Amino acid sequence: MVKTADVGIRAKDLLVTKIATPMSEAAKRGKDAFLEGGCNGCHVVGKVSSGPDLVGVLQRHENGEKWVKEFVLDPATQIQRALCRCYD
Ligand code: HEC
Repeated sequence: MVKTADVGIRAKDLLVTKIATPMSEAAKRGKDAFLEGGCNGCHVVGKVSSGPDLVGVLQRHENGEKWVKEFVLDPATQIQRALCRCYD
């Protein structure tokens, strides 16, 4: 479900996408996968929504690309690992 407060941000994003520099093929595939996976139901780029803002996620975690890949494929294990580190 799309929250009413996010509608304006999504409309702005669409407009920016239309007038911005064309995306690379890899970026397009990533965007399509993000939309097809329903990720935008909870994540709004540039804003905290039901899910956290994903801007800077690669820098927030050590080995960012590997971490995100593992998190998307198996979030329960990654969350469990993070909790274990908190309680060390
Ligand atoms: C039902 C809501 C929901 C959907 C749908 C969703 N997420 Fe999330 N996502 C969350 C929440 C909530 C968190 C925070 C989890 C935590 O930290 O315990 C999160 C965390 C993340 C993180 C880690 C963010 C960080 O800063 O550490 C990534 C990466 C992520 N999601 C990617 C995705 C991708 C890719 C998809 C689509 C395949 C997706 N999410 C779909 C709710 C969602």
